[in-house]
Amino acid sequence: MIANRTFTMIKPDAVENGHIGGILDKITSAGFKIVAMKYTQLSTRDAEEFYAVHKERPFYGELVEFMSRGPIVAAILEKDNAVEDFRALIGATNPAEAAEGTIRKLYATSIGENAVHGSDSDENAAIEGAFHFAGREVF
Ligand code: CMP
Repeated sequence: MIANRTFTMIKPDAVENGHIGGILDKITSAGFKIVAMKYTQLSTRDAEEFYAVHKERPFYGELVEFMSRGPIVAAILEKDNAVEDFRALIGATNPAEAAEGTIRKLYATSIGENAVHGSDSDENAAIEGAFHFAGREVF
């Protein structure tokens, strides 16, 4: 994946709470172009693999259970400086620390159930995008 792209998921909590439309509006209004998108659900094994980097963290089991409990929206987004700009748009991991107007401030309920994912580097954006999408699904 090229450097002006990032990967996101609208997590099960935000889907359950009816925030898909609101979050997609924030994303496109901020100038991100959706170049891939699907409504899907992670299996336990998918979530374990996606979050393998957090395997030793105390919240790993809770995270895997949460991320596989219901549908998500996965997407690849394009914009200049995509990774950094998207992390600014979503706000801090803990919604209590997220800035006003950010997606997590608006829609997240806790540090664990925090509404959206955003890749933390160009390298991880490429890995995470490839985890969810075949080449012919990316435009
Ligand atoms: P995200 O940054 O998208 O990917 C890692 C996730 O781990 C993070 O969002 C949170 O959902 C979760 N997470 C991080 N820290 C904690 C924590 N202290 N307790 C529970 N979940 C956490």
